[in-house]
Amino acid sequence: MIYPIVAYGDPVLKKAAQEIKKEEFDPKLIDDMFETMYNAGGIGLAAPQIGKSIRLFIADASPLEDETIADFKKVFINPTIIEEFGEDWGYEEGCLSIPGIRGEVIRPSKLKIHYFDEQWNEHTHEFDGMPARIIQHEYDHIEGVLFIEYLSSLRKQLLKTKLLNISKGDVDTRYRMKFSKK
Ligand code: NI
Repeated sequence: MIYPIVAYGDPVLKKAAQEIKKEEFDPKLIDDMFETMYNAGGIGLAAPQIGKSIRLFIADASPLEDETIADFKKVFINPTIIEEFGEDWGYEEGCLSIPGIRGEVIRPSKLKIHYFDEQWNEHTHEFDGMPARIIQHEYDHIEGVLFIEYLSSLRKQLLKTKLLNISKGDVDTRYRMKFSKK
């Protein structure tokens, strides 16, 4: 099932998400999230972006066609970033919830994360480069943070009208979205 992507302006995107209880979790949601992400052409998707305020995100970097990250396809349940380290680097980020807007965000290049996979196996792994970048962006989603919050206040000011238009549904996407202010 393909969910509509929740657009900027919806309070669910600004809320810290809840821990998932294994016994209450329907694993079909993971398949639905992958289907939703592929349909929208994304490389990462967090549960709040389909309106569910739970600590779950998925990633698949294969559309980037970067052979150094060939099989970065993962599910992160109840993740905790333990530490971020390495050199800071800038990358032009975008977000399925904020279509048409991109902006350079500076983040540390490496991180260590504790999480459960789709089989509820526990992992503590280090990631760097693009996988780390995708994880940081998606992890922010479950903490209620959007990448545009890292942009300069001038840049944010310049994006104000565009953002307002997105929240009102005045935006064109090839995937279905859900607008809170429409
Ligand atoms: Ni995003």
